[in-house]
Formats: sequence, structure tokens, C-alpha cells
Amino acid sequence: MYNYIIKGGKRLYGEVDVSGSKNASLPILAATIISGKISKIYNLPEIDDVKTTLEILKFLGAKIKKDKNKVIINTKNINKTEIPDELMRKLRSSVIIAGALITRFKNVKFTYPGGCDIGSRPINLHLESFEKIGIKITENCRYIECKCDKIESKNIVLEFPSVGVTENIILASILGDHEVVINNAAREPEIIDLVNFLNKMGAKIYGAGTNTIRIKAVKTLNDVSYKIMSDRIEAATLLIAGAITGGTIKVNKINPEYIGALLEKLKETGCNLSVNKDSVYLRAPQRLKAVDINTMPYPGFPTDMQPMFSTMLTLAKGNSLIKENIFENRFKYLQELKRTGIKITEIDSKTVIIKGVRKLHHTELEGTDLRGAASMVLAGLATKGTTRVSKLEYLLRGYEGLDKKLNQLGACVLREEGD
Ligand code: UD1
Repeated sequence: MYNYIIKGGKRLYGEVDVSGSKNASLPILAATIISGKISKIYNLPEIDDVKTTLEILKFLGAKIKKDKNKVIINTKNINKTEIPDELMRKLRSSVIIAGALITRFKNVKFTYPGGCDIGSRPINLHLESFEKIGIKITENCRYIECKCDKIESKNIVLEFPSVGVTENIILASILGDHEVVINNAAREPEIIDLVNFLNKMGAKIYGAGTNTIRIKAVKTLNDVSYKIMSDRIEAATLLIAGAITGGTIKVNKINPEYIGALLEKLKETGCNLSVNKDSVYLRAPQRLKAVDINTMPYPGFPTDMQPMFSTMLTLAKGNSLIKENIFENRFKYLQELKRTGIKITEIDSKTVIIKGVRKLHHTELEGTDLRGAASMVLAGLATKGTTRVSKLEYLLRGYEGLDKKLNQLGACVLREEGD
């Protein structure tokens, strides 16, 4: 493992490309299980969460050939339906592998998933939804076992538009002769990408991107070739890196429509934006203005962008009110950032007021979780002097070569051997 040594205070300048989406890759890799055929996937980010998901597929019996951002997965010989605890614990999205195994084998056994500690992140809605479509669940302190003879036709209403639950029901409902409708489904772009992938394999899923998704089961799926969408959270991180350093940058290979809420807020801070078909050009103002943010399911302001955006607001002129409505532990990074001299008032567990300061102090910072670690890097970029960021294992779960991309924009982020 290594740390980042950031020699900050440099205005970023130039162009950078965004990698493939982490949150689209994980369900798409899980979906390859269903076909029992060959999936060729392009634009797969080289990040630790992808590595763990591929390890799970390999453990289950898939054959995998990976070459940088391309992977060929043959799931014909998958012969296990039990996901080992040490892999389950490495990431939360491991739970959606359950849906893929159920639809193909009608049976799966797993333990509670892990992931970043940004809230209680229960899986009750996953299991309740499985039960609604005819899956029997046996749960004890050691494992959860899901079994069914067949998936039943059902009209499900989600009590919250959960991304993972929407994906899991879709995956569990692909094969058979039923029809499942999800109401109050999540509308996140990564769900559209998963559905495009499945439909390209021969699934029949309608309404992705709206709050009603209909899955008409099919008997079999086919080989497929697919390019994963780009990562909107990474795009946000790079744009914010431009803004927090007073820079002028162009971020390429993105769908600006998918980051609409972010772009609106960046404009409110005074950033000058030029939005093209697949890129965004940003010119930061002399000093950013404070703005309020309120995290919501898509198309609202994403919880995953909140830590990086709030970090930028620690340097804005005025007071910003931040309301985090999705995950209850998502302000942990602010405690760490206090070492840099930020000024915050905690109103309650969901609400914080950030009083912008003129400058941050260089210091030693630790990543607190994936997006918390990205926030530490952004703080380092904006600070004159040298900042050391450790606990990068969080960052590496979800960012492909962030240091290289920032250095391409003129930053100075060095790697130092660490624990
Ligand atoms: C996904 C994303 C994550 C993002 C989140 C919200 C992936 C791999 N991860 O996570 O980056 O932050 O969407 O946009 O795509 N909940 C329950 N019970 C459940 C499931 C969820 O109460 O069974 C709650 C959660 O605690 C949370 C809320 O629902 O408060 C949102 O979670 P969800 O949309 O499910 O997030 P994930 O799919 O885990």
C-alpha cells in the first residue's frame, strides 16, 4: 500500500478522460452469471471493487480473461451457489450476486455483505423483495439461504427507491415464465446501463430510467459484447478538483445529462461551464460562492458526490447548508477534515453548516471511506504546502489512477511507500 504526497496549491489546467463506471460494472459483472455464456465487456475500470467481484465470479466457477479494461467472462461452468464470507465482506454490492445466482440456479447461500461504513446499510429490502417474488429465505447468525422453485409474477412497490434492491430484483427475475413489475424503482443511470446490458443479451426489461420497471422473463440469454458507461462520480470528482483549485479543465467521455444536479450546483458556486455532448469544460471563479445541497435519489443531488462537493464548499465565500438524506454516517470525513482548519457546525446527524474559510492548512489526512478518501485528496490539492493522505485502500476501491489523472492536469500527487 502507498500514501499520496500532495504538493498542493496548483491551479489545474487541461483535459482528462473519465473511466468506466464502478457502480455500473458491479451489477453487470454479476449479470454475466445468468447467461451461462460468454460476455465481452469493455471500459471496465481497473479498481479493487471490480477485482473482488471478478474473484467471486472465479470462485463460483467462471473462466475470466482480463486485459486492462477489457474482460471476457465465460460463466458456462459455474457450479457453486455459495459466496464465501471473506469475499462477501469486501464489498456491499456482493449482495446482488445473489439475485443473479437465484435466477439461474434457484438457490444461493451467502453471509452479510460489507462495504464502506457510511451507515447501517441493511439488506432487509433486498430480502423482503425476494420473498415477494416467491423466494424462500432462511436466515441465521451465520448465513442467509435463498431458494425457490420458480419466480412468481408480482407487482412490487419499493418503500424506498433503493439502487441495489432495484438491481437485485431485476437480476432475480430474468429467467422463467413470469412477469415482475417494480414500482418506485430507482432511476439511476447505472440501472439503465445494467438493463441495456441484459437486454443486449436477450432479456426483456422495459422502463429503466423511470420509476416503473417491467421484467418479462425469458428462457435463455446469449453471448454479448458491451461497453460500460463512464463513471459519473469520478467525473464529478475531477470537475470539483478543477473548481477547488481555481482551475480551467475539460472532462471528457461523460454524459453531462447524468450529472445534471452537480452541474446546476457548480454554476451556483460561480463556475463557468460549457456543456457539450460528451464533455464538460469548467472555469472556476476567483472565489467560489457558498451553496446549499440536499442529497436525494437520482435525478437529485447524489449522496456519492456530497463529500467531495462539501469539501469544495469549505473554501467558498459564505455559509453552505448540507443535508444528507441517504446515508446516516456520511459526515465522517468532515471530522477528519477538521485537521485542516475547516469551520463547521453540526446541526443534527443529517445536517451540517459549512462556513467557508480562505485557506486550508496542510497536514496528514486519512481516508475515512471511498468518497471520504477522495475528499482528502481534493483538500490536499487546494492547500499550499504538502499534505499526506493515507488509508488509500478506500480510494483504490473506486478510482482508477486518480493520481495520474490529476497529474495530467498539472497537480503534483506523488506515491510514497506506506503501510
Ligand atoms: C448504491 C451505490 C452507492 C450509492 C447508493 C445511493 C452501488 C454499488 N452503490 O448503493 O454508491 O451511494 O446506491 O445512491 O451501486 N436500504 C435499506 N435496506 C435495504 C437496502 C437499502 O434500508 O435493504 C437503505 C440504505 O440504508 C440507504 C438507502 O436505502 O439509506 C439507499 O441505499 P441503496 O440505494 O440501496 O444504496 P446501495 O444500492 O447500497
